Amino acid sequence: PDAPADRDRPLAGKVAVVTGAARGIGAAIAEVLARDGAHVVCADVPAAGEALSATANAVGGTSLALDVTGPDAGAVLAEHLLTRHGGVDVVVHNAGITRDKKLVNMDADRWTSVMAVNLLAPQRITAALLAAGALRDGGRVVGVSSLAGIAGNAGQTSYAASKAGVIGLVQALAPELATRRVTINAVAPGFIETAMTAAIPLVTREGGRRLSSLGQGGLSVDVAETVAWFASPGSAAVTGQVVRVCGQSLL
Ligand code: NAI
Repeated sequence: PDAPADRDRPLAGKVAVVTGAARGIGAAIAEVLARDGAHVVCADVPAAGEALSATANAVGGTSLALDVTGPDAGAVLAEHLLTRHGGVDVVVHNAGITRDKKLVNMDADRWTSVMAVNLLAPQRITAALLAAGALRDGGRVVGVSSLAGIAGNAGQTSYAASKAGVIGLVQALAPELATRRVTINAVAPGFIETAMTAAIPLVTREGGRRLSSLGQGGLSVDVAETVAWFASPGSAAVTGQVVRVCGQSLL
């Protein structure tokens, strides 16, 4: 019954929201979901400004200034989606940050800000969308974890813990959502060439690249294509899963 009329646009008629869509992996996810026919609501912090509008325009979607850590972020998003679109079919929790320090030097603010964006926001926003009845039956939720959340990474205790938390959230929530044919899965990218990884020291960057059997960092579009598969009709029976996007990782 859910078979798309147009095989080239499997998400035609669907509404998607992508957090952290102004740049990097989020912008690539917005682009690929739009290519597949979805209307994409591109959300990012107010400071993302023109970069966010540029992504939204490029994909023929709409932009929404939304800090995912705001106390009412979930309710605001639910209201936006219900009022403008009558609901949402695909939710991609892509917004993420690093505030790396060795644990001994890590102040509480650094730890909690990473947790707030990477783990609490997906949990609170998903809960708010469900409570408001904004997520339609047959919908898709996609978390963005990381190889660091599977195998750890030196100097990234807060980041790795938050990304491991995303995996736990996805695995535990899957059976709760299954009765409504809503799936929830996660991608776990390895080293992907974006502004986030450009900021880390060269030696660490090279180490990250070498962990991929591809012999190089992945591209944002590699992650985006996997997210698009989770959003597509063909993955309807796949839920609670984590897919590494990093070549054949040695981890
Ligand atoms: P990026 O730093 O290039 O982009 C992240 C986007 O999220 C930015 O546009 C930023 O404004 C937005 N954002 C940050 N805090 C936000 C908030 N409170 N509310 C709304 N938006 C917010 O990062 P990149 O590399 O594109 O990463 C995207 C996701 O992929 C993140 O969750 C990251 O942890 C994850 N990831 C990235 C990897 C990489 O190698 N680049 C590897 C594994 C996971």
